Amino acid sequence: MGRIRVAVVYGGRSSEHGISVVSAGSVMGALDPDKYDVVPIGITPAGAWVLTETDPAAMKIIDRVQPSVSSGAPVVLAPDPTAGLVQLSTGSAVQTLESVDVVFPVLHGKFGEDGTIQGLLEMAGVPYVGPGVFASAAAMDKAFTKKLLAAEGLAVGSYEVLRPRDTVSVAALSHLGLPVFVKPSRAGSSVGITKVADWSQLADAVELAFEHDDKVLIEAAVVGREIECGVLEDADGTPIASVPAEIRLVRGHDWYDFEAKYLDDACEFDIPAVLPPELTALVQQTATKAFTALDCAGLARVDFFVTDAGEVIVNEVNTMPGFTPISMYPKMWAASGVDYPTLVDRLVQAALRR
Ligand SMILES: Nc1ncnc2c1ncn2[C@@H]1O[C@H](COP(=O)(O)OP(=O)(O)O)[C@@H](O)[C@H]1O
Ligand SMILES: [Mg+2]
Repeated sequence: MGRIRVAVVYGGRSSEHGISVVSAGSVMGALDPDKYDVVPIGITPAGAWVLTETDPAAMKIIDRVQPSVSSGAPVVLAPDPTAGLVQLSTGSAVQTLESVDVVFPVLHGKFGEDGTIQGLLEMAGVPYVGPGVFASAAAMDKAFTKKLLAAEGLAVGSYEVLRPRDTVSVAALSHLGLPVFVKPSRAGSSVGITKVADWSQLADAVELAFEHDDKVLIEAAVVGREIECGVLEDADGTPIASVPAEIRLVRGHDWYDFEAKYLDDACEFDIPAVLPPELTALVQQTATKAFTALDCAGLARVDFFVTDAGEVIVNEVNTMPGFTPISMYPKMWAASGVDYPTLVDRLVQAALRR
């Protein structure tokens, strides 16, 4: 078999641009150079596609500053399968580049993990890592995720949905109790989320969440441990669960907000999570059920709350979880015997099989 051209598409228009750059740097560095030719395609925060030449090793958070995609030769992936990757040069000429065999969209959040780029890649006829249009869109939307999982009998928390046309009424929400988590239905990295401990904070929290999406969730707070589980397809397409991991907040952080996730040394991780064997098994089973319920493919990270009573409640499903060197998804797989380069290789191979 000849060398495989893998386009790693990263950056993008979402609030998780910087994290995507860091994830992509790790993925590119881990693709076996004897087997793969990497075509790095950055998407600027404004949405321009460029062929980048950045050294993957430089794609890191330095002094709390996130890297971003800024420059490169303009390129587009045509939605026409006979056209492929086209370089736009100044002047009149366009140049068709050698086609890519597979795309690894290392993009988090909007225009990346939500089915939009997946739709473009379907149109272009290029295989890609991760789930298709519907599963990506369903998992991106926390309200739809809960509906689909509940329909399969999986436990999810209580919530209400707000649209911009709705009047916000505490009376209609008070059954959720306090605190509540107010969040955009489609966002990530804790952006736009507020933990509301007093109803007087609700209006501001709702306004902030609406800055990120036109659908807002008000969720009852679940009291439980934060447990995550990786799912990966094996060679025949069966979803397999990794060992679960626990995120424990330390140093005064009360919930897993953006700062806690990426900037402060605010979390401790137990990989594997210290759980009784039957709870570990239940988390793993629930993770693969959630994967199937949403029609996922390739990979997913399923995030849970596990209560003292041993209930396993799904919080959310991420179809393109973080791939930074400290990200949970690759770490859970490493602890399950699949190291980072092997993981990336299996994901690309799974995409090529489809
Ligand atoms: N219903 C909830 N109960 C308790 N904690 C929550 C709830 N919703 C969110 N959180 C806290 O907020 C964090 C981020 O929320 P999450 O829904 O996972 O959004 P994101 O997609 O941004 O990661 C969670 O990891 C958890 O710490
Ligand atoms: Mg989360």
